[in-house]
Amino acid sequence: MTVQLHNVSHEYNYGKVQALRGINLDIRAGQFVAIMGASGSGKSTLLHLIAGLTQPRDGDVIVLGHHLGKLSDNDLTLFRRRNIGLIFQAFNLLPTMTALENVMLPLIIDGKSKREIRARGEHLLRLVQLTDRMDHRPDELSGGQQQRVAIARALMNEAPVLLADEPTGNLDSKSGEDILYLLRELVERENRTMVMVTHDPRAAAYADRIITLSDGQISEELGIVAEVMVS
Ligand SMILES: Nc1ncnc2c1ncn2[C@@H]1O[C@H](COP(=O)(O)OP(=O)(O)OP(=O)(O)O)[C@@H](O)[C@H]1O
Ligand SMILES: [Mg+2]
Repeated sequence: MTVQLHNVSHEYNYGKVQALRGINLDIRAGQFVAIMGASGSGKSTLLHLIAGLTQPRDGDVIVLGHHLGKLSDNDLTLFRRRNIGLIFQAFNLLPTMTALENVMLPLIIDGKSKREIRARGEHLLRLVQLTDRMDHRPDELSGGQQQRVAIARALMNEAPVLLADEPTGNLDSKSGEDILYLLRELVERENRTMVMVTHDPRAAAYADRIITLSDGQISEELGIVAEVMVS
């Protein structure tokens, strides 16, 4: 299993907000999972736990064999840099850098050849259809274009696990579909694992499994019936 959650609960404000309650979830390599549910049902919290950005109050989160609860802060940072591609709502693009520089940044830190990194960055920006915007700074891009830069950046480290919070939230339906198609292709061709939060049933339709959270619990799961039967 690529992602395993055992009895995971999480609370905020010293127990006043019970964000997740007793979540059990196994996701295997090459699966595309959509997480749906009302606002406040715990979707982003779940992604943060899988990314190791938040430690659960209770239960175990195991990603690619790493017990995230047992890793030091340094090891968690390394774990994320190598294994996780994050596509979150705040794009966190650096305002003084161009689109291409923003995309290249995660790998520059790792000390690979700059030429190689540039070639990969350009390739990814072409994939998200920003060929003619590579030299633009974030404030010279539309919201949807900034979102696509953030998606290209998340794909830069070739992470086996991609986590996305409303990746198509700011996109028109055509650009949104292009991105979903691209993510779907990455899952299928490169056996990557994708967990995507979305409110949009059309986006969720790209997934193999659709999990619905209600009030911090899994209330419904669609699409896995055939797999349960074979395993
Ligand atoms: N940092 C925090 N401190 C306190 N409470 C929080 C914090 N983050 C989230 N919560 C609360 O935890 C619950 C789950 O929040 P979460 O962000 O996971 O919901 P969500 O399903 O992603 O919602 P949305 O669809 O609105 O993004 C909510 O009731 C929220 O108010
Ligand atoms: Mg959220």
